[in-house]
Amino acid sequence: MKIYYDGANLDEINEVTKLGIISGITTNLSSAKKIMINEKIDYDNFKDKIFNTVKAYNQKLSLSFQVSKNDPKSIYEEALNIHEKYKGLDLKVKVPINYENLEVINKLVKNGVKVNATCVTSFTQGVVAANIGCSYVSFFWGRMTDADIDAQKIVNNFRNLLDKKGLSKNVEILIGSLRDQGIISEAYIAGADIVTMGYKNIKKLAHHFKSEEANLGFQKEWNK
Ligand code: E4P
Repeated sequence: MKIYYDGANLDEINEVTKLGIISGITTNLSSAKKIMINEKIDYDNFKDKIFNTVKAYNQKLSLSFQVSKNDPKSIYEEALNIHEKYKGLDLKVKVPINYENLEVINKLVKNGVKVNATCVTSFTQGVVAANIGCSYVSFFWGRMTDADIDAQKIVNNFRNLLDKKGLSKNVEILIGSLRDQGIISEAYIAGADIVTMGYKNIKKLAHHFKSEEANLGFQKEWNK
């Protein structure tokens, strides 16, 4: 039932890592680009900043950086660089899953790179990502349901397959692309190992209006 922070804002990372409920951080090209524009820094500077902040806090946290290149040869070089440069955390390199990238992912895994297969939206993509040795299979739940794909059924079937084949120790199911809070429980029930979510969703996790109401009631009685 792991919770990851999905985003790239350093203030948010500093805040949520202290809560004790976050086991990792996932960044992607969109969240990185926003910060790079705001802070006028390049992708290397961006990764340095995030890595140093996370490492200073807790070296056991998982951190995912996405490759920015989109052709297999460049993906290989960039992923290897990321893997070699950012040691000292549980680092995963996000590579989008598609036919063109399979060979490169296979080579990366054989060279000790932990790959987070990203942009996964189908059962068979999950199967190939697991077969090839990816550490994470990142299903993009919201993007699946946007296209009327039954994300809960696919993730649950994939969970059952991993369990049946004894592969659950090698590969973890990560759910990203949250659209609303309701997805979080659906994803865990379907068998997700990890749900990654933005700051707004993390803030809502421990909140419920009925709990607030109860607490305020106690306070009111106490202060009479
Ligand atoms: C997960 O690792 C991704 O960063 C993320 O959840 C993508 O979701 P999106 O559909 O909001 O881009």
